[in-house]
Amino acid sequence: MAKNILFNYFEMNCVGHQSPGLWKYPSDRSSEYKDIEYWTDLAKILERGFFTAIFIADVIGYYDVYENSLSKSLEDGVQIPVNDPIQLAGPIAQVTKHLGIGITASTSFEHPYPFARRIATADHLTKGRVGWNIVTSYLESGARNIGLEGLKSHDERYEVAKEYLEVIYKLLEGSWEDDAVLRDKQKGIFADPKKVHAINHEGKYFKVPGVGLTEPSPQRTPVLFQAGSSVAGIDFASK
Ligand SMILES: Cc1cc2nc3c(=O)[nH]c(=O)nc-3n(C[C@H](O)[C@H](O)[C@H](O)COP(=O)(O)O)c2cc1C
Repeated sequence: MAKNILFNYFEMNCVGHQSPGLWKYPSDRSSEYKDIEYWTDLAKILERGFFTAIFIADVIGYYDVYENSLSKSLEDGVQIPVNDPIQLAGPIAQVTKHLGIGITASTSFEHPYPFARRIATADHLTKGRVGWNIVTSYLESGARNIGLEGLKSHDERYEVAKEYLEVIYKLLEGSWEDDAVLRDKQKGIFADPKKVHAINHEGKYFKVPGVGLTEPSPQRTPVLFQAGSSVAGIDFASK
């Protein structure tokens, strides 16, 4: 039986994702990561090459542990500076037809309510081609810079992630019914209030009483994936 091989392109919105220093190579273009053309050119090449998806890694925080300093990371451009991955989804979708666009977002830094809107917006703009690499993060520097003492423990970060996903499901799957948006110009009714529901979420980590901000996007919930291999990580992923 013929087997299919699927190609996925792993990138990050910075120079030298997993290959620090490669930006010095004469024909390297990764320092153009700030230019929209860098991403649209790359997306077109991947689509032409029948890649299934582009997957864009991300971290909130930076590597400041080596010699107790951030200097080496800055000197070598080691995942800093780093731009926001989700903003690439729209431009990549615009120049491609079938390439999947996986973006990374952490459950440890941002409340699920604004994130639900951002990922749903990306799903709308890509017409249902966005995926979410769910990470719980590992950089203490990120936690400190949002005013925390540090990251929660490894396993508790996965507990937070579970509740985070509960909120996301409630907002994206449960708040707006499929036919909530009427766009009835005659009656002057855009959306039917009876079909937009408050999620009334009250958990250990998050409280979200109201309705989602976005109307249903093509996938509602994007393709979800996560790469943890610990017991807690596998338990979370399988759920
Ligand atoms: C292919 C791959 C991609 C990953 N991408 C990211 C990433 O973009 N951002 C991040 O914070 N962690 C990333 N990770 C780390 C994992 O999400 C996870 O935090 C790590 O594997 C530790 O989890 P564990 O203790 O459950 O094994 C990645 C891991 C793998 C294997």
